[in-house]
Amino acid sequence: MTKSFIIAIDGPASSGKSTSAMLVAQKLGYLYIDTGAMYRAITLLAIENNVLNNSDEVIALANASKIDLVYTAGTTKVFLNARDVTEDIRSKEVNKFVSPISKISGVREALVKKQRILAQNNSGIVMEGRDIGSVVFPDADLKIFLTASIEQRTVRRVKEYDSKGIKVSIKEIKSNLESRDKIDSSRENSPLIKAPDAFEVDTSKVTIEQQVEIILEKVRQTAGKKNNG
Ligand code: DC
Repeated sequence: MTKSFIIAIDGPASSGKSTSAMLVAQKLGYLYIDTGAMYRAITLLAIENNVLNNSDEVIALANASKIDLVYTAGTTKVFLNARDVTEDIRSKEVNKFVSPISKISGVREALVKKQRILAQNNSGIVMEGRDIGSVVFPDADLKIFLTASIEQRTVRRVKEYDSKGIKVSIKEIKSNLESRDKIDSSRENSPLIKAPDAFEVDTSKVTIEQQVEIILEKVRQTAGKKNNG
């Protein structure tokens, strides 16, 4: 089996990970994997089964569930046990509970296992999340860490809801992002951190096209170095 070229993209919520990762994967013809969608799917399942406060039950659900990410026409469709949950996993309720559910070590173990399997047999992968460069693929060929100011991230999230016709208060969105940042960065198991060898890109003041080009340039440099030695 030939070794895959793995690009890990990590960063906080609404830092531009999904858009950049999807476009970079599209340009390179690589497989795109949104690991946040997997944590969201398990959170949805925990809400539906009324087991948010029972870690063992949530871990059992995570181990037993099948999550498929199907990339079509510029979007990722998410299937949970063969049910399309693409829209449901973006609800306000899932946003509220996803960070506490992601803290559970057994949930992380189950999903990291699935993520490593997904990456097998693919020559190129762009995987985005919080712990991809630090834990899931510590030997990734290229590690990118995206950041953006809280103000900018709030505006992006509000626009996302607006485009779906959902009314939200700016205050509520900002406070959800801040609380997720706090939980995601301070949890014991694989917190959101910038891997020492990751390249940081602040997306606050660049366009999407520019941030994609910055990453593609890094890919070219890394691939060039690999080929030369
Ligand atoms: O990228 P996102 O906002 O869709 O991620 C939702 C949540 O999932 C995020 O707040 C923390 C969790 N997550 C994680 O713990 N590890 C990952 N690799 C990806 C997401």
